[in-house]
Amino acid sequence: MQNINRDRLFDLVAKERQSYLERHPRSRELHENADHLFARVPMTWMNKWPGGFPLGFSSARGALVTDLDGHELVDFALGDTGAFAGHSPPALVRALAERTGEAGGVTTMMPNEDAEWVASELSRRFGLAQWSFSLSATDANRWLLRLVRLVTGRPKVLVFSYSYHGSVDETFVVLDEDGRARSRPGNVAPAVDPTSTTRVVEFNDLEALARELRHGDVAAVLSEPALTNIGIVLAQPGFLEGVREVCDETGTLLILDETHTFSAGPGGATRRFGLRPDALSIGKSLGGGVACGAFGLSQHLAERVSAAVRDGADIVDVGGVGGTLAGNALSMAAMRAVLGEVLTDDAFGPMEELATQFARDVATAIERHDLAWSVSQLGARVEYRFASPAPSSGGASARSTDPALEEYLHLFCINRGVMMTPFHNMALMCPATSREHVGRHAEVFVEALDLLVG
Ligand SMILES: Cc1ncc(COP(=O)(O)O)c(C=O)c1O
Repeated sequence: MQNINRDRLFDLVAKERQSYLERHPRSRELHENADHLFARVPMTWMNKWPGGFPLGFSSARGALVTDLDGHELVDFALGDTGAFAGHSPPALVRALAERTGEAGGVTTMMPNEDAEWVASELSRRFGLAQWSFSLSATDANRWLLRLVRLVTGRPKVLVFSYSYHGSVDETFVVLDEDGRARSRPGNVAPAVDPTSTTRVVEFNDLEALARELRHGDVAAVLSEPALTNIGIVLAQPGFLEGVREVCDETGTLLILDETHTFSAGPGGATRRFGLRPDALSIGKSLGGGVACGAFGLSQHLAERVSAAVRDGADIVDVGGVGGTLAGNALSMAAMRAVLGEVLTDDAFGPMEELATQFARDVATAIERHDLAWSVSQLGARVEYRFASPAPSSGGASARSTDPALEEYLHLFCINRGVMMTPFHNMALMCPATSREHVGRHAEVFVEALDLLVG
């Protein structure tokens, strides 16, 4: 296997940084002049960007973004999945114009017909009977955790190490090198030590999962069907079925977070793999970028929540679930347009074909250079990782991170008109992604490796 020459890598990073600086004066200026923005960006995550300052953008359409200096980039980041439907698809633009203009009423705290349409479509796709809406996937998860604790009377939750479910307090727990649970490094002032609220095991470790659930104090396992925020870590054969069985044996509920794994198909990984969660959360892409989130409950779980409500739990005021703008008319209109006309059943096949092509191109380049890297795919989503074979747990995947390599590849791509997800090496296809876009990435990736390893 080929080793990367670190001196050569650092030289190349320096060259790409210089080129990034020279190509993007207006983005740099935007950043330097943002004196009233905390950390110089509208939201602090936007600083997770290579090259010293983030790209500012002026417009975005379909699979393309135009930056402030007029460069057009093929967007494989798609707002970290928020723009999975592509940027401003015509159906969404029409629905938003109708809601804000002709019909009027962005938010009224009153139901309308779009809501039942969206809920029944989510039922058709994911199989869960009853739906409720939030403004983010984070809140969908947060509220679900309350509901599962409510009905089980159990205090804890279980997550997989290095999973991500939004800024939800209970989820920031990882296993350290000695296999001990600890608050995730960098966790910002948690109110209580999350190891007191949460059990944690490695993804794909059924034995550890069974051991932890047998304590009998876990209300629910909260998991993605494949981890997607520490590279893509796919479930090994039988793992997801095993999770369901162990949950059933121990009276634990199962929540699947499909926020990113929606890439697997029109009904996410749940439908693709025939999974049977008690609850499901999703957000980001449903509204084409308009703030939204949703959670689904099985009929049985919905009835248990309703029984608890009859016994006094408050889900219509200040009990800790819900929010003023949740389920607002604008986000319902956006979700109806996206599910009804953009991310339709038929849209997924072509996106997956492109992702397969993307993954094949990357695998070929990795093989040609005999690198110990791997590439994983989940439907329309692809990610390459600096480890081979592909890691099977969050911990192993975390250990394969290489910030210098990531910076090199990201900058190399951006400087040549291709944008990968800045948080990792992830590429997502949208309905507007084309074969030419995928081919453009392949050319740039091959060129980057040729320079790196000769
Ligand atoms: C799997 C998963 N769940 C939930 C979230 C939270 O989404 P949001 O930040 O939109 O609330 C994320 C965000 O990256 C995610 O990846």
